[in-house]
Amino acid sequence: MSVKTIENNHLYWDGCDTVALAQKYGTPLYVLSENAILQRTQELHRDFLAKYDNVRVAFASKAFNTVAMCQLIAREGLSLDVVSGGELYTAMKAGFPGEHIEFNGNNKSQAELEMAVAYGVGRIIVDGLTEVERLAEICRRLQKTAKILFRITPEITVDTHDFISTGQKDSKFGIPLNPEILFPQIEAAIALPEIEFYGLHFHIGSQLSDNSTHLAAAKVALSLVNEIKERYDFTIKELNYGGGFGVEYVEGDVRQPYGYFLEPLMALTEAYCGEHGLLRPNIVIEPGRSLVAEAGISLHTIGEIKTLPGLRTYAAIDGGMTDNIRPGLYQADYTGLVANKAAAKRTESVTISGKACESTDILMKDLPVPPLSAGDIFVTFTTGAYGYSMASNYNKLPIPAVVLVKDGQDQLIVARQSYEQMIQNERFLEEWR
Ligand code: LLP
Repeated sequence: MSVKTIENNHLYWDGCDTVALAQKYGTPLYVLSENAILQRTQELHRDFLAKYDNVRVAFASKAFNTVAMCQLIAREGLSLDVVSGGELYTAMKAGFPGEHIEFNGNNKSQAELEMAVAYGVGRIIVDGLTEVERLAEICRRLQKTAKILFRITPEITVDTHDFISTGQKDSKFGIPLNPEILFPQIEAAIALPEIEFYGLHFHIGSQLSDNSTHLAAAKVALSLVNEIKERYDFTIKELNYGGGFGVEYVEGDVRQPYGYFLEPLMALTEAYCGEHGLLRPNIVIEPGRSLVAEAGISLHTIGEIKTLPGLRTYAAIDGGMTDNIRPGLYQADYTGLVANKAAAKRTESVTISGKACESTDILMKDLPVPPLSAGDIFVTFTTGAYGYSMASNYNKLPIPAVVLVKDGQDQLIVARQSYEQMIQNERFLEEWR
C-alpha cells in the first residue's frame, strides 16, 4: 500500500499533509514515513528472517543514521551496520545492543577499533591483516575477543554508476582474490588467539536491480569457504552478501522484491554447501537504500523563477545539493511534484535548481509542473537514503530537519541546525606572538 495520497490538491505522506508539515517545521525538510519503512522490514521478516535459519539483516546505516532510526531498527529486530566512530556513537546513544552491530569500513582508525571492541560490537569486517593485527593488540589490552569477517573483492563488475561499484578487481575495498595475497592473511588471522575468524564478506555495489551479480559473487565466496576448509580444515561460520538492492527513483527503475535476490542466493548457498559437504554458514545481508529510500521525501519552497525565452524556465528551491548531492555527484534522476498543486494539470516544464553556488546544483531538468509561483512547496521523492546522511554545510546552509510521520501523526527526529550550531566549533582569530 502506498503512503502517498492526494487530498484537496495537497500531497499527503503517510496520512500527513505535506504543505502543513512545511508550514509547521519550515523548509528544506526531510519527511520519512514509518509505515513505508515497516513495509520493507516486514517483507524482510516474511521472506528472509522467518523463512531460513541462521540468517540476519543488518541495516546499512550510512543510508540514514540517526538516533531515532537506530531505535526503530532495534525495535524491528534487525542488526545495524556502521562504518565509522560517528555512526557507532549514534547507535550507542540509541542504546543499540553491541552484539547486533557490524562494523565495516576500509580504514578504521585506532580510536574507532577501540570504541568497537570496548562496546562489544558483534562483528568487525576487516579489509586486511594489518587491521586484524591492530585489532588483536587492542583485544589483548582490553582483555576482549573480536569476531571478524574478511571483506573480499569478488572481482565482479556490476551494472550501476561507476562511483557506486565496489566489487570490481581494481577497488579500494576488500582483500584481492589473488591466492598469494589472500591465503597468508587468512592463515595468520586463524592463528591469532584474540581473534575469532568468523567469515567472509562482500559488497559489490549499490542500486542494483539484477540478481546475477550477487549470485556470481556468492559463488566466489562459497568456493573460498570450500577452499579454506580443504586447506586449513577450518569452517567458515558466516557469509555476508552485502547490500545493493535497488529502488525506484524514476519510471523505468525497478525495485525488485527482496525475495528476487534472496531466494536464488539461499538456494545457491544451500545447494553448494550440500554438494561439498559443508555446514551452511550464517547468511547476513546489509541493505541500506532499499529500506529507507522510498520512505523519504524532501520538501522545499520555490523562490525565484526565471524564464529564458526559447530556452527554459528555472525554478529555484531553498536547498539543493547541500541536502541532496546525488544529482550533482552521480547524475542521479529524481521525480518531483508541487505539494500544494498536487492534482493540478502539469502544463509547464521547469528545471528545478538549487541555491548553492555551483552549476551542477540542478535537481531535475525539464520537469512537467503546473504553473508555479513563489511560495509553492516542492516535493522530491525517494530521498530517504543518502540524502540527510550526505548533507553538507556548503555555502553555510544549515542541515535541514527530519520529521518522522505515521498514520497522520508527525514527530521531529532531527531538529534543523541553527547558525549558532553551525559555527559552534569555530574560534576567533588570535594575535600571533
Ligand atoms: N554494505 C556495505 C559494505 C556498503 O559499502 C554499502 C554501501 C551497503 C552495505 C549498503 O548498500 P545499499 O543497500 O544502500 O545499496 N552514496 C551512494 C551509495 C553508496 C553506497 C556505499 N556502500 C548513493 O547515494 O548512491
